[in-house]
Amino acid sequence: MNRLRIEKIVQGGMGLARDDGKHFFIYGCLPNETVDARIYSKRKGVYFGEAIDIIEPSPIRIEPKCPYFGECGGCTFQHIPYLNQLEFKSAIVGETLQRIGKFDDVEIDEIVSSPLQWGYRNKMEFAFGKNDDGVFLGLHRRGRFDQLLPVAKDCLLISDEMRKVVLAIEEMAQGEVPYDPKTGTGYLRFFTIRESFASKKLLVGITVTQNSEPEIFKFWFEELDRKFPELIAGGFMTVNFAGSSSQGKIIELFGQSEFIEKIGDKKFIVSADSFFQTNPLGAEKLYSVVKDYAELDGSEKLWDLYCGTGTIGIFLWDNIASLLGIESHRKSIDDAERNAQLNGIELDLDGNEIGLPSPNTAHFIEGDTRKILWEFGNIDVESPDIVTIDPPRAGLSKKAVMRIAGFNPERIVYVSCNPATLARDGALFGDNGYKLVRVRPVDMFPQTYHIESVALFEQA
Ligand SMILES: C[S@@+](CC[C@H](N)C(=O)[O-])C[C@H]1O[C@@H](n2cnc3c(N)ncnc32)[C@H](O)[C@@H]1O
Repeated sequence: MNRLRIEKIVQGGMGLARDDGKHFFIYGCLPNETVDARIYSKRKGVYFGEAIDIIEPSPIRIEPKCPYFGECGGCTFQHIPYLNQLEFKSAIVGETLQRIGKFDDVEIDEIVSSPLQWGYRNKMEFAFGKNDDGVFLGLHRRGRFDQLLPVAKDCLLISDEMRKVVLAIEEMAQGEVPYDPKTGTGYLRFFTIRESFASKKLLVGITVTQNSEPEIFKFWFEELDRKFPELIAGGFMTVNFAGSSSQGKIIELFGQSEFIEKIGDKKFIVSADSFFQTNPLGAEKLYSVVKDYAELDGSEKLWDLYCGTGTIGIFLWDNIASLLGIESHRKSIDDAERNAQLNGIELDLDGNEIGLPSPNTAHFIEGDTRKILWEFGNIDVESPDIVTIDPPRAGLSKKAVMRIAGFNPERIVYVSCNPATLARDGALFGDNGYKLVRVRPVDMFPQTYHIESVALFEQA
């Protein structure tokens, strides 16, 4: 056991301590606390551990709401008051931009809070497990992908309605056999639940490892419908033979296979397996920051890179002249086109060929951003005025940054879910003629360490 004094919270939600020339990242603590920590690993010269005893607690420490907090891999910040969570996240963004990107004087605008601090998630995927009390739905124990905790019916990141349905499914699953990854036996794997905050309807799905009788699950969904009238929009079964994920062949068993969600005044189709922002009320705040930073006057040609189902471009539609979306996932491109049409946006449907949208239309291209932009360079297409970018956690490649900057857009608005890659890519934009002007963190994931930010780059 090591007795340590915690200095600050760093990326990943750990507390940083320094002792005897060594660096420690400790889970479950707060700045200015003295803790006894168990060290469980060492990577790249840094020791990782967890606080076992809080010897001197911080005056701001609060009682976590969830009985599984600390053990469950879901939440990391329930012991921290929400305002302090925001303060720590904002400081991490500033420090990371300074440390990795060498941005010493960048302005960090005030962090935007999530409209809901609890019950903000519109989707959860729980795994089926079994203990002495029977079959349960749960999440992994922190850091242990071989152990499940029966947390689902207590999970406070989802709504009361979602929790009630989770409990009902647990009751129906008694006597069935959850899949055991160690032995490869059993068949019940995951329960996926999605809520439309706009219509208050739920989509529910069961993933099985082998062709179980669909009739069983059809009956479960009908039971749910009887128990919760008007709540269940649809139910489906997914077959994933390897049991490794909830993805696979979808068999629709009850009601509809999709519902409508809203972000601001725009509507979006959410289906069983489509990607959608998990905090829809937070997404409106996030996209409003994008809109604010983009400073649109209605005349702009916008390129929305890594566009997913087209949400950012469609949210900005009323303030732009044309929209080009680029995205590598075929299904998301199909959804983006349907979403555009749902909002009365005319599509410039040139098959899926390389091409720019004509005025007042949107066009979506399936493909790797870097490769598509390279092809654009070769055919000398007209540059966009504004580019929005929303890449996965790994951020952009050096070549992607060069290609985007090579089109000389007036402004680049970068939405990032990883301050470290934002800082790295920001420095690369600096090398390619752009300066980082402003950054605003947006809290999309209360009670967890995850940080979303929006950054504005302008031509230097
Ligand atoms: C963080 S999501 C953003 C989605 C969307 N902007 C939103 O707000 O819902 C990142 C998206 O990038 C896509 N993607 C990943 N690598 C890509 C690449 N090399 N080129 C184009 N799209 C990519 C993923 O499929 C995913 O939809």
